[in-house]
Amino acid sequence: MSYGSGTEVDQRRPALTITPEFKADSLRRYAELRAQGPVHRVRFGSGLEAWVVVSYEEARIALTHPALLKDSTPAEKALAAVGFIMNKPGVGLGGNMLESDPPTHTRLRRLVAGAFSPRRIQQLGPRIQQITDDLLDAMAPQGEVDLVEAFTGPLPITVICELLGVPEGPERRDFRSWTSATLGRLSDEQRAAALKLNQYLAALIEHKRSEPGDDLLSALIAVQNQEDGQLTQAELLGTAVLLVVAGHDTTVNLLANTMIGLFRQPEQADLLRGRPELMATAVEEFLRYDSSVELSTNRYVAEDLELGGRQIRRGDVVAVALGSASRDAPQQNGGEPDVIDVERAAARHIAFGHGIHHCLGAPLARLEAFIAIGSLLRRFPDLRPAADLPGLSWTPTGMMRGPLSLPVRFT
Ligand code: HEM
Repeated sequence: MSYGSGTEVDQRRPALTITPEFKADSLRRYAELRAQGPVHRVRFGSGLEAWVVVSYEEARIALTHPALLKDSTPAEKALAAVGFIMNKPGVGLGGNMLESDPPTHTRLRRLVAGAFSPRRIQQLGPRIQQITDDLLDAMAPQGEVDLVEAFTGPLPITVICELLGVPEGPERRDFRSWTSATLGRLSDEQRAAALKLNQYLAALIEHKRSEPGDDLLSALIAVQNQEDGQLTQAELLGTAVLLVVAGHDTTVNLLANTMIGLFRQPEQADLLRGRPELMATAVEEFLRYDSSVELSTNRYVAEDLELGGRQIRRGDVVAVALGSASRDAPQQNGGEPDVIDVERAAARHIAFGHGIHHCLGAPLARLEAFIAIGSLLRRFPDLRPAADLPGLSWTPTGMMRGPLSLPVRFT
């Protein structure tokens, strides 16, 4: 059946299931879907059926549409049928700005926004450079490492832990596995990990109440202590969990995906080594080319609407394929969307989302990528893959896209 034809019942039948095989080759598979139309009915691995928006213009419309909300009430039946637990503080990502609509969203975002202003983030530059250099120093004598394990993994978690005020200790290492807990249906293992992360951060908040430090968590506690009750305990914890989860795997995978892209186009890496002044625009190109958040979080349909020629009903679930949409802005980006071109003038993309939930951590993510990729290329001029790139294993489920490991060699 071709796009847009058939009865509404036909249209609502999922055209495909998002399997690990799909995810391993997702950008090419999404390009095939884009060629057929901007909005598709899919079944996720969890069993949930949703509309997925794959094109740039429709993605921007969806992410600002007044009837596409975070309030999951109209979709409760569909969610319960596949075992989703939504908006429950203490499990997964409950009680935070990303899962809220205005006015709660506005209030929660405003409380943290100051800490993520471009000026505040720029001040973190020297410390991020130091953490980067320490990790590269530790890699140097080894000659061959898993780049995810040795570098792209530890860098973002160290940065976010320092920002929040999570002390150094064995827990920082555990954060990596704890943060794998994501939205939606959790496996028993993920649920246990999410609970551990919640418990750890709840205990840390209690500790910081009596011994505040110069960190974001202490600043949020200070806001909570103000008498106008701007932040409940559940919201404080939800915000801390969100910052750890949203600030971590996202950046890990952007760095890893970027290095894979540069391994495929080594002339682009050489260009950057020779002309480091291109790095700021190169980071936008990396975000456009293969960022980490493949799918947005879900939106729930509050009123019937039409999008990309599809009839979308109240209670439906909509997600945006951000990576796909970013490859679909050729008119703005001068063509050839499937290659990295670090000289592309300010690439347009939607890697950080769009509208009120546009990534709060974008200035931090950009700065980390700028420092990490630049330092890695300078420090190891002959950095190369130590495994067959098409043979890499990719995140098999969920909204993220990235390699599980990335063996590299260097002298
Ligand atoms: C939201 C992407 C790094 C904090 C988002 C959204 C995207 C995104 C796509 C919107 C999701 C949606 O609308 O469903 C990314 C990418 C990153 C990154 C690609 C790295 C390459 C970070 C970092 C932080 C962060 C480092 C900070 C610690 C947040 C927060 C939100 C968010 C708090 C929720 C904003 C809101 O609901 O108003 N991010 N992110 N992100 N991100 Fe990021």
